[in-house]
Amino acid sequence: MDTFAFIIHPIDPKRDVSRKFPFLGRVLTERQIDFFSTFFPPVYISEINGITSQATGKEIKGWFIACPYTPRRMMELRERTVYRKIIQTGRFAEKLGAQILGLGAFTSVVGDAGLTIAGALDLPVTTGDSYTIAIAVQAIREAARVMDIPLGEATAAVVGATGSIGRVCAELLADDVAELILIGRREEALVELRDRLGVRARARLRTSTRVNDIAQAQLILTVTSAIHEVIHPEDLQPGSVVCDVARPRDVSAMVAAVRNDILVIDGGMVDVPGPVDFHFNFGFPPGKAYACMAETITLALEGRFEDYTLGKDISRQRVEEITALADKHGFRLSGFRSFEREVTEEHIESVRQAARRARRIHSMQERS
Ligand SMILES: NC(=O)c1ccc[n+]([C@@H]2O[C@H](COP(=O)([O-])OP(=O)(O)OC[C@H]3O[C@@H](n4cnc5c(N)ncnc54)[C@H](OP(=O)(O)O)[C@@H]3O)[C@@H](O)[C@H]2O)c1
Repeated sequence: MDTFAFIIHPIDPKRDVSRKFPFLGRVLTERQIDFFSTFFPPVYISEINGITSQATGKEIKGWFIACPYTPRRMMELRERTVYRKIIQTGRFAEKLGAQILGLGAFTSVVGDAGLTIAGALDLPVTTGDSYTIAIAVQAIREAARVMDIPLGEATAAVVGATGSIGRVCAELLADDVAELILIGRREEALVELRDRLGVRARARLRTSTRVNDIAQAQLILTVTSAIHEVIHPEDLQPGSVVCDVARPRDVSAMVAAVRNDILVIDGGMVDVPGPVDFHFNFGFPPGKAYACMAETITLALEGRFEDYTLGKDISRQRVEEITALADKHGFRLSGFRSFEREVTEEHIESVRQAARRARRIHSMQERS
């Protein structure tokens, strides 16, 4: 049976450590977990069974293994030290017999986005970013539809537009919307991106280094590598949609708490084909996975045991190819989730109503 492995790591330290080690998660503080994670070896998490291709009936098996570092730790430590730990985790995957390795969340962001790690390992590696891009863009298009936001007339914003994922998301959205605001921290890189996309983009393109310019957009796709929240309740206009692809999240939990007129969705959740059992709760309902996991699984189902998405320069062709392969094997954009909860039709309707009320109040205030 063909096999894969996927590296996960703690993002919310107490919550995620509790999922594997309930006692440690209870007694250690966040700071202590951060500190001890430096000395912890890679951790075997679980075996994954039941994934079956809808196209070929092929079944595969996989493993979750954890690199113990938190995002904060990965940013604080020397790149070399972080690579070493991820490579050590990859060697563990090799020993288990994995034929391809996926890099989850920050293990794909560090340094050169998988190139050094793949170079040091004997098994092929992918970051999963190509399919993450595809699913993030599909999700925001679908969210626009359910919120009655006409895509062709909308203003969209990509926060983290100069990043590996953000750049291609921007390229795809530039074909859909009327106006696109490219937001990042480096003006020069934003201008370069704008000039490159501008040649064939449908959308009028603007750049900004201020995150609060998202107030001008109805559709926001956010995918920064910030380890703290960058989007706050006061930044958003009523009725807008925010698709948060970043892990850790970019959107403050306060948005859900105090803005009932905004639809925040998690980017990147897909339905997995076959009676999958991950034997581990990573926060999704049964049968669902992150798009980056799905890319690794798709490659194993397809028998494509080769390095796939690596490095910071992701091509649109790769995104289109993995979308077609994932589609063929039966992966689908899943229903929406927001802050670990399912987004129901009633919730969407209540957001629409609250947005209408907020707009009415706003226009009354403007008139008086
Ligand atoms: N949901 C999923 O399935 C999935 C899969 C893979 C990755 N991810 C997540 O996606 C995120 C981005 O990954 P990536 O590989 O695209 O990272 P990346 O290539 O390092 O790009 C990060 C982007 O974020 C911007 N940025 C960083 N810190 C910022 C801050 N404090 N404020 C505003 N902008 C900031 C950077 O701007 P500058 O270029 O100007 O510095 C850059 O545009 C990460 O959180 C990662 O964990 C999620």
